[in-house]
Amino acid sequence: MSTPPATIDQPVKTLQNDLLLRALRKETVERPPVWMMRQAGRYLPDYLKLKAQYDFFTRVQTPELACAITLQPIDQVGVDAAIIFSDILVIPQAMGLEVLMEEGKGPSLPKVISCKQDIDDLVTDGAEQSLKYVYDALTLTKKELNGRVPLIGFAGAPWTILCYMIEGKGSKTWEKAKQFAYTQPLLAHQLLQKITDITISYLKLQAKAGADTVQVFDSWAGALSPADFKTYAQPYLLQIADALQGEVPVILFPKGSWYALKDLSNSSAAGLGIDWGIAPEFARELTGNRIVLQGNFDPAKLLAPIPDIKKAVKEMIDAFGVQNYIANLGHGITPNIPVDHARAFVDAVKEYRKS
Ligand code: CP3
Repeated sequence: MSTPPATIDQPVKTLQNDLLLRALRKETVERPPVWMMRQAGRYLPDYLKLKAQYDFFTRVQTPELACAITLQPIDQVGVDAAIIFSDILVIPQAMGLEVLMEEGKGPSLPKVISCKQDIDDLVTDGAEQSLKYVYDALTLTKKELNGRVPLIGFAGAPWTILCYMIEGKGSKTWEKAKQFAYTQPLLAHQLLQKITDITISYLKLQAKAGADTVQVFDSWAGALSPADFKTYAQPYLLQIADALQGEVPVILFPKGSWYALKDLSNSSAAGLGIDWGIAPEFARELTGNRIVLQGNFDPAKLLAPIPDIKKAVKEMIDAFGVQNYIANLGHGITPNIPVDHARAFVDAVKEYRKS
């Protein structure tokens, strides 16, 4: 008999490993769950094989390929959650902007947003409908996971998406994006709101397609001062967290914006991702155990000798505590990390014992 397609109404199978979801609900766990940002792709040899065969957006837009890539770190590294293989830049694409991914160069957008007309021209009504391949990939992956671990969906935060829409490529300073915000704040807010509305619909559809939780990547939040973060990033992150309440738990990852942790801990988000620029104890002090913290191992430290990785992981968990905590990196894993070092990170979390 063939298996019926997985839908949210017919759960594939109850989760065998629901550590991540229990941690996000602040339930008592026997050890912290562990996953790694950007775990799907980049450093795994089997990913590199698929990368040699198919271009980036073919990998993203073909549910079978996206599913296969998503499963690789579950099988090969043993993480406690899968994150769907996709990209944050599918939102600008869905809104009508071309996005190119060139090897060694990163993403680029040939046509950027520079005036009101450009914002008016963006596709808004039903833009999220064109991302059916993401929902199909989630549903297929959920089925293939067969309850092994939870599945994480994701999107870029409005500020980070605005950065790419204005600059057209990565930047160290995001000066053009900031110039746009600081000289045309009304237009910036109009754009941020449009991105927010679509992102909310997009994440709701991801939940419906099988995502058990969603993470919002505000990768370039830390380029903003505390006051500008409050103006251009925080309100939109809060709107997203509020809108997803009652659907799936939301993890916000405002990279570099440690100064916002107190405010964000009073939001409807379930978890907050932090990078290695803040000590776990201070992050706890700012958030007062009101929210689950996720992070914050320096990905470059995965290049250290394995015994040193294991020691540092233990110290990290000692500092955060086992409860209300998700072990993770402080940013994405990089392509130069040996697989056995990534595995050592994961194993160290699984082997954690308080001494
Ligand atoms: O976490 C996962 O493994 C799921 C897949 C995922 C990708 N991108 C695949 C990808 C996720 C969660 C992202 C998010 C993403 N994309 C972010 C936020 C996270 C972060 O690291 O800050 C950002 C800023 C982007 C934009 C982007 N996409 C950049 C800057 C690049 C170029 C270089 C790189 O690897 O980051 C990409 C391309 C991209 N997205 C790759 C992968 C695996 C590498 C290209 C390739 O393998 O062909």
